[in-house]
Amino acid sequence: MSEMDDQKVDDGTSNAITRRKFIMGVIAGGAVVGAASYHFLSPSHAPLPPYLGERLISLNVNGKVRRVDVMKQETLASTLRYKLGLTGAKMGCDRAECGSCTVLLDGVPYYSCSVLTHTVRGRKITTIEGLAAPDGTLHPLQKAIVDEQGFQCAFCMSGFTLAALAFLKKHPNPTRAELAHGVSGNLCRCQDYNKILDALTRGAEYMRRA
Ligand code: FES
Ligand code: FES
Repeated sequence: MSEMDDQKVDDGTSNAITRRKFIMGVIAGGAVVGAASYHFLSPSHAPLPPYLGERLISLNVNGKVRRVDVMKQETLASTLRYKLGLTGAKMGCDRAECGSCTVLLDGVPYYSCSVLTHTVRGRKITTIEGLAAPDGTLHPLQKAIVDEQGFQCAFCMSGFTLAALAFLKKHPNPTRAELAHGVSGNLCRCQDYNKILDALTRGAEYMRRA
């Protein structure tokens, strides 16, 4: 034992303690914190703290309930892509400009990069992965896009498809100009707009026939 070990540590009160006792107290405190952290992670013990309970939420995605751990500031695009593996929603601008991240909430198109995931609890979320039938049969709009080869690189395709789907459900027989206006919230970097409109026009036709 060195002389230093028994030096007094003055805490500004009359309760001066020795350096040895002070260090032992710190180590003991650390052990308690460490044990508390471990205990907290153990699934069979203490109840989850309130903030973690809030992070584990249920989302209705493509007709299925998905449990997911979501941070308060997390966007729906991030949750879909990086937590649920639904990468059809593309991240283009990440600031509500391009529409490549479009998904449907209760049938209405939204930029998922600009929607906080916590705000869509209880809503029906549809991504491009949810459009085909369970047996893999393409939605008529998807079939038209394939038939017309409507997109060049197709980065923007899922966003356009979902925006067009929502529009065509309300306006089943649009003019080309009306259809263009209906999907004007979506941009195509390849500037393939004529081909896209050809494909969506054929999609409207297929949907009317279905
Ligand atoms: S990535 Fe969402 S609007 Fe561009
Ligand atoms: S086809 Fe390439 S971004 Fe639209």
